[in-house]
Amino acid sequence: MISKSSIEQVFETARIEEVIGDFVQLKKAGSNFKGLSPFSDERSPSFMVSPVKQIWKDFSSGKGGNAVTFLMEHEHFTYPEAIKYLAKKYNIEIEETEQTDAQKEEANERESLYLVNEFANTYFQKVLHKTDQGQAIGLSYFKERGFTDETMKAFNLGYSLDEWQGFTDEALKQGYQIEFLEKTGLTIVKDEKRFDRFKGRVMFPIHSMSGRVLGFGGRILKADKKAAKYLNSPESEVYHKSKILYGLFHAKQSIAKEDNCFLVEGYTDVIQFHQTGIKNVVASSGTALTPEQIRLINRLTKNITVLFDGDAAGIRASIRGIDLILEQGMNVKVCTFPEGEDPDSFAKQNTLEELAVYLDSKAKDFIQFKASLLVEEADNDPIKKADTIRNIVNSISKIPDPIKREIYIQECSRIMDISEDVLFTTLAQIHKKESQEAGKKQQQEKKAFDVIHKEEPKRKINLQYELERKIIEILLLYGSKTEDFEDLVLKENDSGELILEPVTNRARVFEKIYLDLQEDEMQFTNPNFKSLYYSIVDVLHQEPEFSTRDFVNKLDQNMASEVTTILMEDERYNLHDWERNHIIPKDKNETVPQLVNQTILSLRCFLIDKKVAEYQTDTLRKNSNSRGILEDVKDYLGLKMLLSRKLGKVIGSKF
Ligand code: CTP
Ligand code: MN
Repeated sequence: MISKSSIEQVFETARIEEVIGDFVQLKKAGSNFKGLSPFSDERSPSFMVSPVKQIWKDFSSGKGGNAVTFLMEHEHFTYPEAIKYLAKKYNIEIEETEQTDAQKEEANERESLYLVNEFANTYFQKVLHKTDQGQAIGLSYFKERGFTDETMKAFNLGYSLDEWQGFTDEALKQGYQIEFLEKTGLTIVKDEKRFDRFKGRVMFPIHSMSGRVLGFGGRILKADKKAAKYLNSPESEVYHKSKILYGLFHAKQSIAKEDNCFLVEGYTDVIQFHQTGIKNVVASSGTALTPEQIRLINRLTKNITVLFDGDAAGIRASIRGIDLILEQGMNVKVCTFPEGEDPDSFAKQNTLEELAVYLDSKAKDFIQFKASLLVEEADNDPIKKADTIRNIVNSISKIPDPIKREIYIQECSRIMDISEDVLFTTLAQIHKKESQEAGKKQQQEKKAFDVIHKEEPKRKINLQYELERKIIEILLLYGSKTEDFEDLVLKENDSGELILEPVTNRARVFEKIYLDLQEDEMQFTNPNFKSLYYSIVDVLHQEPEFSTRDFVNKLDQNMASEVTTILMEDERYNLHDWERNHIIPKDKNETVPQLVNQTILSLRCFLIDKKVAEYQTDTLRKNSNSRGILEDVKDYLGLKMLLSRKLGKVIGSKF
């Protein structure tokens, strides 16, 4: 268990914009930061971070919270994992109270897998550097490949002994359970026997974006035709191949800074580039990029440069997958290496300057590259040429930006020596076909929706909900302030008329709201708002200052999300320039007391309307005691007129 004071220290020190900035490229937007949502596929940013309030809000997924909840959502950390991560980031020493056996047992499975991976990571490095076999075989292999000690340390490179259960025995001896050794894939269990999966291989740990070890790749050293050159950890609770990019942890800062990401195939390509001095590089580990992997890059930069090994066969196969990257609105360049070279070997033979110049001069725009490549192949073959045109226009059709599409059509017309008209016609055909398909799909979806629609009538905007929410917002933002409230009090003047006379009362905002609501015996109808209302009032009663940050920290995820939505609402409308049906006119010069009065009066008017409506239906239904009811209604209407006068609005009466 982490001590309470450590947790507090972590919360005090952590800056949310720095924490999130490690994962999402944030741009300053007024007093906030904005970026692309890391939780969904989006092209325009709706992810907001407020350094002042120390909270974040993702409007595309609805999630929100503080630095810790971000890590829990994004890295799938548990609460203690997130606290420890932050402590490490900010060099805070964590005090821990000893765990009992029961607590140890409770520690969840994922944590156990991480622990096993962490142990293996340290173990394999130790074997590489400290054992005879490790040095003689593993270390000399890496040295042969030109890796320095510093590089090996940075990438945690290791070696797994050429023994059937060297690793497994050591792990068991250290108290790690066979269940988790098997689940991480480090140990293969067959009946009574246990084997090290990575026996006799050099080890490449694979890190998450935040640097945790998720799994391993191991390269065989002997020439063995039957065994795979590289072996990877199997899928597990913590290792999802399609969501991982090798090297991302080491590259993320540089990708954002350089505003470009080099994509290579192999572990050694990444490492060699790093060592040469180009750090914005990640590997797909030999397979085509998945949408999730592209999204990981897309958060850091819009520009990707795919580096191909110098064999033509590979290029043709890889080209297809690149349309996926275009679809995500990224700019794709490609760069090939001389025959027989891959990024690793090329970087090894060249200086940083030579490499940089090469990449700069050889990188071609993907569509232009594809066009020239295919045109060459289709030379003098009209049927092939028609295919080629469709193929390239197909890629162009994936680009979301219409202006870019047009420029590419012009380019390709030039490269392939075909009129722009033909290309535009082809593009239109593809779009038509796609929209027909999309239309069909939409219709199907609509049908599914219709069913739900009947059961659940369309939600109107709910005035009461909006007003209750507004009150929570006011309490969160201004609750602890002291203000002069001008109340209109009903008085009889000298000639016996009832008039409204202004009276000024100095009060704290939350007290004013609390008393006004109590006077009306007003209850919140929304259960979330109700519970928030009482917790906020509670805190404000006890403390002179109200910190939204501390408040959010103490809430559960559901409530934290509710609060961050409310607090970030303004930003959201700034962000999208949306018009909203504002119940209360929002005037920037409006004072806090005015805002409070208007909100509460609006709510009272609303409640009266509701009451009157209830009476009306009651009267219609029962037809009894209608006299008494009519009196009540009259009272209410009188009250409402009064309130309306206070509000400065004329509200039409239904009678
Ligand atoms: N790979 C794999 N399994 C294999 C072969 C390759 O997972 N059986 C992945 C590895 O991530 C490897 C990448 O594909 O790094 C590229 O493979 P390849 O080009 O064959 O390897 P190199 O990186 O060139 O490896 P080396 O230089 O060590 O031979
Ligand atoms: Mn290679």
